[in-house]
Amino acid sequence: MILSLGKVDFSLFFCYPITSGRIMKDRLSELHSKIDEAHLGGGQTRIDSQHSKGKLTARERLHLLLDEGSFEEIGMLVQHRSKHFGLDKQTYLGDGVITGYGKINGRLVYVFSQDFTVLGGSLAEAHAEKICRIMDLAMQNGAPVIGLNDSGGARIQEGVVSLAGYADIFYRNTRCSGVVPQISSIMGPCAGGAVYSPAITDFIMMVEQTSYMFVTGPNVVKTVTHETVTSEELGGATTHASKSGVTHFSFSNEVQCIEGIKTLLSYMPQNCEELPPCISYQQANEYREKLDTIIPDNPNQPYDMKEVIAELTDSHSFFEVHKDFAENIIVGFARIAGRSIGIVANQPAFLAGVLDIKSSNKAARFVRFCDSFNIPLLVLVDVPGFLPGTDQEWNGIISNGAKLLYAFSEATVPRITVITRKAYGGAYDVMNSKHIGADMNYAWPSAEIAVMGAKGAAEIIFKNEISKASDPEARLKEKEKEYADMFANPYEAAARGFIDEVIEPGHTREKLIRAFVMLENKAEKLPRKKHGNIPL
Ligand code: HXC
Repeated sequence: MILSLGKVDFSLFFCYPITSGRIMKDRLSELHSKIDEAHLGGGQTRIDSQHSKGKLTARERLHLLLDEGSFEEIGMLVQHRSKHFGLDKQTYLGDGVITGYGKINGRLVYVFSQDFTVLGGSLAEAHAEKICRIMDLAMQNGAPVIGLNDSGGARIQEGVVSLAGYADIFYRNTRCSGVVPQISSIMGPCAGGAVYSPAITDFIMMVEQTSYMFVTGPNVVKTVTHETVTSEELGGATTHASKSGVTHFSFSNEVQCIEGIKTLLSYMPQNCEELPPCISYQQANEYREKLDTIIPDNPNQPYDMKEVIAELTDSHSFFEVHKDFAENIIVGFARIAGRSIGIVANQPAFLAGVLDIKSSNKAARFVRFCDSFNIPLLVLVDVPGFLPGTDQEWNGIISNGAKLLYAFSEATVPRITVITRKAYGGAYDVMNSKHIGADMNYAWPSAEIAVMGAKGAAEIIFKNEISKASDPEARLKEKEKEYADMFANPYEAAARGFIDEVIEPGHTREKLIRAFVMLENKAEKLPRKKHGNIPL
């Protein structure tokens, strides 16, 4: 058979030397020089300036955060499209933010890290699109989003597209809320409307001296209110960790902050469909003798609830959230026999553990986070009630206290309460009582479950009798004892089943380990609704 070759020009096959590889070499060197350019961000001078301020670069931060070799960058070559105010001559590969995914302790995370060396890390159209892209991926694939923020805010030269970019991020922050954990680490300036993205995320971490957050800076404050204040005083890490509660954590340097992110994530599941990780645990002697003597004989004497937490949880596993804010309530993550739990505990060593506006808000938000991400709750109660006074009433203790009540009532995760001492008045109901859906309620023999303290109660209900008595003080003491004998104990509540068991303090850890295992398959659904209306 003869093959017809038609009009094929054989010179095509024979006239050119074989040069495979040379063009690719050129292409590769072009790619490598672009990668090098992107890695240099805003240039060596600005990198040096960043270091001289005691700050790491965006890439150095990612290097510390992610498991070695796990980072995959997305959008390294993205550039802005703006031509205004000389921006056409100032293009940088990546547009001032490094985005991608990687692993922390072997678990997938999505990350963005703003590069202050590029136009001050300012956010505009392309920069925002990159952040939105990784948030969308995080939602679709069910993994946490971590933002390392270091930015001068909206890129002034790009105008309204910068504002649009922020709004696109805020929208995604809200849609991601309760679906995947979101952590914001503030490692430089964060001002104006830019603060609202971190504010919507689950946790904020700040670095002392090098980061700040405020809606309006010191200059505007001076003009409007005539107050003179530094950036650090107005919105530094210490201010937000102790005064406003805006930040959940404050660290003395960036390395510690990055370690904090890793620790925090270790307690969380990847998304709302998963259970939190459980680490292996070797069963040991769980009796904790110290707890049998921790409650002082005098009911008005404080003790440190953190010592109770340390005894009940796995060694060194307690990771406190909002440590320096509203210290009358303690919240944080811990492990009990290897399982992640969230702890909410009154702190009798600070303001007698009273509930007020700040502590109610602090605890309510924490309870809602734990409930969103299937983290069981342990509640330790020693509360004398809500804080009285005009300050509290006029600033809304009613609606703010209701937030905590609502948060517990709504939570469907396993919930266990231990009343160590006082559980007075409405605060008894609020602090995860049986009546608002707690699964197991324990009390120590030292528990006092009553409408109020014995002295206050006697003064009210025996007012006439005491005033008419020949020795009113002695009569008050007598009536106080009568009331205390009746109610300053856990047995009245136990008789009604409001308390499941009165337990020896030293055996509490054993009880908790068993009860959390017993509750691990708890399945409870809220009534069908669009969403509830928590009293914000
Ligand atoms: C464009 C910016 C920028 C911005 C800083 N740069 N902020 N470029 N848009 N918002 C640039 C600077 O021109 C400079 O460029 C480089 O970043 C570093 O800035 P410096 O001022 O040299 O650094 P430093 O002294 O450390 O001061 C940092 C700063 C200051 C405090 C953040 O730069 C500053 O006040 N920036 C403006 C902040 C601001 O007003 N942003 C808008 C907020 S309103 P070169 O080329 O010299 O290196 C907002 C609205 C958001 O964000 C709304 C969302 C709804």
